[in-house]
Amino acid sequence: MKLLVTGCAGFIGSNFVYYLRKYKDSFIVGLDKLTYAGNLENLSKLIDEEKQRFVFIRGDINNNELLNHIFEKYNIDVVVNFAAESHVDRSIFEPHVFIKTNVLGVQSLLSVAMEHWFRGDKWLEGKRFIQISTDEVYGSLGPEGYFSENTPLDPHSPYSASKAGGDLIAKAYYDTFQMPVIITRCSNNYGPYQFPEKLIPLMIWNALNHKELPVYGDGKNIRDWLYVEDHCKAIDLVIEKGKIGEVYNIGGHNERENIYVVKKIIEILRRKTGDDKINEDLIKFVKDRPGHDRRYAMDPTKIQTELGWKHTYSFEEGLEITIDWYLNNLDWVRNTISGEYLKFYEKNYLGR
Ligand code: NAD
Ligand code: DAU
Repeated sequence: MKLLVTGCAGFIGSNFVYYLRKYKDSFIVGLDKLTYAGNLENLSKLIDEEKQRFVFIRGDINNNELLNHIFEKYNIDVVVNFAAESHVDRSIFEPHVFIKTNVLGVQSLLSVAMEHWFRGDKWLEGKRFIQISTDEVYGSLGPEGYFSENTPLDPHSPYSASKAGGDLIAKAYYDTFQMPVIITRCSNNYGPYQFPEKLIPLMIWNALNHKELPVYGDGKNIRDWLYVEDHCKAIDLVIEKGKIGEVYNIGGHNERENIYVVKKIIEILRRKTGDDKINEDLIKFVKDRPGHDRRYAMDPTKIQTELGWKHTYSFEEGLEITIDWYLNNLDWVRNTISGEYLKFYEKNYLGR
């Protein structure tokens, strides 16, 4: 099977291409624009050790000419589209970048895939377009209930609105052209290689450096945390057994309040490092994120019953592994947050 994995140098994309290593007969073309969030270092082991089975191309999913070249040269069977602008806070400052990649980029990928996969009046066998989406397209929940695949879309941030736009254009390609599209919507991921702008790696890094831990609002917003490897397993199953035209929700039933997450990180880090300066005095409640969704929680019944997926890691287990990874990869964090991103962070977040 020949896969085009876009956004392969980001957090989930890089974990996914490592996950696919177990399939000795697969060939992966990794495409990534290498924005501030993409890091080739994430793929270094793969680039060194899997020359026969992995090729990296730097490029934009909006570049139709490049996409055509890739489809022609590699005869792609499956597209897994992780490429996106992914940070909600950033989308509040520069929404246009999100629309360009998360909406128009998806359309470019769909149209080029269609050009190569639709022959005469039918679709070639075995082709799949997997659009990686998010629970955020469903909006926000009150204290009860879960998002199902039938929950109406109600995005609130420019990020989630752009992801909903990408989903709808992908759905339209299925509805109109019967293109073999499947959409997955996942809850909050965490694990190795996550860019330290997101809650968990940001808190780990700040705590290790005795910097303040900025908790938005009252800290009681709830996210449903999923260890990234569990997400990769789910996508793998969707490629193999997912039904064309369907949506699959992926979530771990690991709902936690943000303040619990931050306190747990402090507790684990202090135990692992013996550093008493890592304590709850570092927590600072700061101005809330505008339009901050209160609670996300996924109902994964469909993917569990139809495809046999289940998550393996509890939040506390996954967090221990994640913290160990960051402690062993501090240089990665240092290199990752240098330059352009750090300027953005200092300008927009610090001292709010
Ligand atoms: P990320 O920001 O870590 O990685 C995104 C990658 O896409 C980066 O490597 C970046 O360079 C690349 N990219 C951005 N614009 C591009 C473009 N125009 N062309 C090619 N490459 C481009 O994001 P992530 O957390 O790994 O998320 C991956 C996907 O999963 C996204 O679609 C996101 O919406 C979705 N998702 C993420 C989570 C989560 O918790 N992180 C949860 C659910 C869904
Ligand atoms: O739910 C899936 C989504 O999860 C993905 O689609 C997004 O790509 C991904 O970024 C993530 O979005 P969130 O906004 O939930 O993740 P983030 O890590 O930015 O924030 C998690 C929670 O923590 C959220 O309620 C905001 C809060 N937060 C975040 C940061 C960065 C803080 O309190 N302080 C912070 O400094």
